[in-house]
Amino acid sequence: MTARSVDRSVTVQSALVLHPDRSRRDDLRAAEARLAEAVGLAEALDLRVVQALVAPLRAPVPATLLGAGKVAEIAALCAELSLDVVVVDDALSPVQQRNLERAWQAKVIDRTGLILEIFARRARTREGRLQVELARLAYEASRLVRTWTHLERQRGGFGTMGGPGETQIETDRRLIAERVARLKRELAEVRRTRTLARRARRRVPFPTIALVGYTNAGKSTLFNRLTDADVVAKDLLFATLDPTMRRLKLPGGRPAILSDTVGFISSLPHELVEAFRATLDEVKEADIILHVRDIASAESEAEAADVRAVLGELGAGEEAGQRVLEVWNKIDLLPDDAREFLAARARRDGGAVAVSAVTGEGIERLTERLAALVDEGPLLTIALSASDGEGLAWLYRHGRVVSRESGVDDGLVVTARLEPAALAKFEQLRPSALLAAAE
Ligand code: GTP
Repeated sequence: MTARSVDRSVTVQSALVLHPDRSRRDDLRAAEARLAEAVGLAEALDLRVVQALVAPLRAPVPATLLGAGKVAEIAALCAELSLDVVVVDDALSPVQQRNLERAWQAKVIDRTGLILEIFARRARTREGRLQVELARLAYEASRLVRTWTHLERQRGGFGTMGGPGETQIETDRRLIAERVARLKRELAEVRRTRTLARRARRRVPFPTIALVGYTNAGKSTLFNRLTDADVVAKDLLFATLDPTMRRLKLPGGRPAILSDTVGFISSLPHELVEAFRATLDEVKEADIILHVRDIASAESEAEAADVRAVLGELGAGEEAGQRVLEVWNKIDLLPDDAREFLAARARRDGGAVAVSAVTGEGIERLTERLAALVDEGPLLTIALSASDGEGLAWLYRHGRVVSRESGVDDGLVVTARLEPAALAKFEQLRPSALLAAAE
């Protein structure tokens, strides 16, 4: 294959990481933090990052993305530091990529290429590997197509058509198309098996809990801590591309199934969102979502916002009616007063638990909260008469009211969760209230 975006030979090479700063005002994350993330991604690829910088980008230049001055400046750096690779933390068109490679005399990798390569290395299950391979081929195919039109235009200028270049590209495109078709067949087969497995699991009445979180938040570490499993936790981004399932024993002896999922990152290249989607089905179907956050990170809020946005896009999370418990992880990294403040806030809040997956602090409280959530019972739809303020107050006291709206005849339709004991009591108190399981 001729157009591999990143080849194996990059592994021990020295690199410069460049973050073009487009400074949109809606962007929560500072350019420096974005740069740090890109450096983390490059290091996860075993690149030796010798220089990292932010390049303000006010007016993108079609041919090179960056302005001529910046291109020259980087060219000088490449020569001075004998750099092999320049990582541009933005999407580059194939033409831009090639022009920059020529100007800098170094291999240029854009953000999509970088993430694809990382995904390829981290994929653990067959499905994950197939998904990544497909995404990578789609990326390559788009480069080939665009390379092709570009060459065609160039050649047109010289009045020649055809030639070995063209044939090579056509061959590549055919090979890619064949490979895509084969991968899709394999993927369909793997997915069929997985759907069967999921169906079998659904017959077992174990509640399922899915871990989600920004990359490096500590999902794998928490997963191990909770299940004593030995999924390797490394200080590498994307240690987990595929969901991994383990049995989890909650206080009270009730078993649940815990699944570890892929780490989210900011501005996931859209080519990769599809590859994510299937893997994240587990999240959509989970009874409870554990949103693991690195609460010691300076970017904790922005990261959490990214994760919620991705969940929303997938039709999962709080907006989709799922129960989400936040795990404020890495409290061991905080000074004592900040740690106590957070733990108190989490307790008051009810929707969060502060823990350290490494030291084990707070883990007991987390499993207790999980057990309580699991026992909270199913989501119920309850119809009350408009005058039944007492019934409504009872539901607020003994259950968790999720929503209330007006129903027929001025009545009230309440959606709430009730533990089995509370449900039995409510049925005695209001035998005529229409009850239906909403999920
Ligand atoms: P991805 O797979 O990239 O999404 O990462 P992850 O969310 O699974 O994170 P992982 O568990 O691999 O942890 C990332 C790094 O954070 C590792 O170096 C962990 O040792 C570290 N870490 C996780 N939890 C804690 C914690 O409670 N305290 C401290 N100090 N470090 C932690």
